[in-house]
Amino acid sequence: MFNTRITKMLGIEYPILQGGMQWLAKAELVSAVSNAGGLGFITAVSFATVQELRDEIHKTRDMTDKPFGVNISMLPVLMPGDLTDAYVDLVCEEGILVVETAGRNPEPYVPRFKAAGVKLFHKVPAVRFARKAESVGADAVIIVGFECGGHPGMDDVPSLIVLPKAVKELGVPVIAAGGFCDGASLIAALALGAEGVLMGTRFMATAESPMHDNFKQWMVEAQETDTMVVERSIRNAARIMKNDAAMTVARMEKEGATLEDLLPVIAGRVGREAYLSGDINLGAIACGQAVGRVHEIKSVAELMDEIIGDAREIVRRLEQVVSS
Ligand SMILES: Cc1cc2nc3c(=O)[nH]c(=O)nc-3n(C[C@H](O)[C@H](O)[C@H](O)COP(=O)(O)O)c2cc1C
Repeated sequence: MFNTRITKMLGIEYPILQGGMQWLAKAELVSAVSNAGGLGFITAVSFATVQELRDEIHKTRDMTDKPFGVNISMLPVLMPGDLTDAYVDLVCEEGILVVETAGRNPEPYVPRFKAAGVKLFHKVPAVRFARKAESVGADAVIIVGFECGGHPGMDDVPSLIVLPKAVKELGVPVIAAGGFCDGASLIAALALGAEGVLMGTRFMATAESPMHDNFKQWMVEAQETDTMVVERSIRNAARIMKNDAAMTVARMEKEGATLEDLLPVIAGRVGREAYLSGDINLGAIACGQAVGRVHEIKSVAELMDEIIGDAREIVRRLEQVVSS
């Protein structure tokens, strides 16, 4: 039943990927997703040095013999160019199966990935960027809709529109991201032509996600209206939890704040402090609208079982619906 170009390309059982998540997508979460038949991406930007990322790759290898990948987010705010370069070399050296890149055109790195046999999945928020990614040699494109946690781009187009449009225009496999969180949305993505889904928000709210329980509790109680998009004024739109920090960012932007003014609130290190301390109001924390569909904290294995079981059930029901 789950036989797509993505499951074949990656040699995985289910077309469910866990996207990069700064501070959260580390060995525990990544190996849990891969062990459950999906594929997780370690997030390079969580590690300050190449050696730290190398250690995390080795730790993940100790925790799973299934394939996993590395996310390299290339937003200039997140990662300086020379560190990106060093991470690309490391991924090639370590023989990583697949990278998820985001934030900038990955073209300069394509020759190195190709030479090392690393598959390149580039994540974009718009069809025009998807076409560009394909033209520079991406093996698959991940397209995020406006619902997504993290960076939805500047066009405000939801998955229901951007996904089938990308599928129609591209030859390489398209992976759906932004709002996907359960069996029903997995089947919806496949129906729209995707060959897999990539989830952030739903995996953020699992037992293996290394953030303070206060955040998990907040996610269980939150509604789909409890996120907001900030940082449009600096052309770095980000969907985050609606907390005190988000309100501060929105107010500062209205008052004409620059990136430098905003950094003390939006910098990644503040988010890390928040995750560790359990102060849910402390930082700008990425979170998608799918949070309104998170009702329980489960282990990754339980979540994956539920998604697959529900997906199979939905397909059976649809067979009845269509044949009647
Ligand atoms: C807490 C959190 C942190 C994230 N950090 C990153 C990151 O460091 N790099 C990246 O490429 N994407 C990041 N993302 C985006 C996800 O990889 C993914 O594209 C997105 O969550 C998909 O939409 P969804 O949240 O509706 O599942 C993050 C998302 C969340 C929720």
